[in-house]
Amino acid sequence: MEFSSQLKEFIKKELVRYEVKRSAIIPCLFAVQKEQGWVSPEAITVLSKEMELPETWITEVTSFYTMFNRKPVGKYHVQVCCNISCSMAGGRELAAHLEKNLSAKAGEVSPDGRYTVSRVECLGACGTAPMMQVNDEYYENLTLESAEKLLREME
Ligand code: FES
Repeated sequence: MEFSSQLKEFIKKELVRYEVKRSAIIPCLFAVQKEQGWVSPEAITVLSKEMELPETWITEVTSFYTMFNRKPVGKYHVQVCCNISCSMAGGRELAAHLEKNLSAKAGEVSPDGRYTVSRVECLGACGTAPMMQVNDEYYENLTLESAEKLLREME
C-alpha cells in the first residue's frame, strides 16, 4: 500500500505544524480515512513510517475515537445516535429499521455496498432527536420513513 502524493504532502505539512509530531496524528488519520474510506492496519503501518512515530501510538488513537472506521464502510456511513435523548425519541427503533430495510446488519456493509449502519453515542444534536450522521452531514428530527427516504434518494 502507498499513499497518494497529495496525502504524503498533507502529512508532511501537518508534521511541521505542531510542536510535537504526535499532535498531528488525528488530522493525518482523518486525511487517510478520507482517501481510503477507512483506516486499515496496513494504512497505520504506512502512516507510522511517514510520521516516524510508533504504530502503537496511531493504533491507540483509532481504537479510542469512534470516528475512525476500523473496518470498511459503505458509500454512506449512517451513524444513528442511540444515546439518551435520541433513544427516548426513537433512535434505537430508527437504527433497527434502517438495518433491516437497507439490508445493513449492524456495523456491516450492505450487499450493494451502499450502506453501513452504526449505532453511536451522542453527536451533540440532542434537541432535534432522533438524528443520524451520514458521512459528514447531520439529519435531524427524523422519522423511520423520512430517514429511509433520505438514504434511498442519495445518489
Ligand atoms: S442524544 Fe442523540 S444527539 Fe445527543
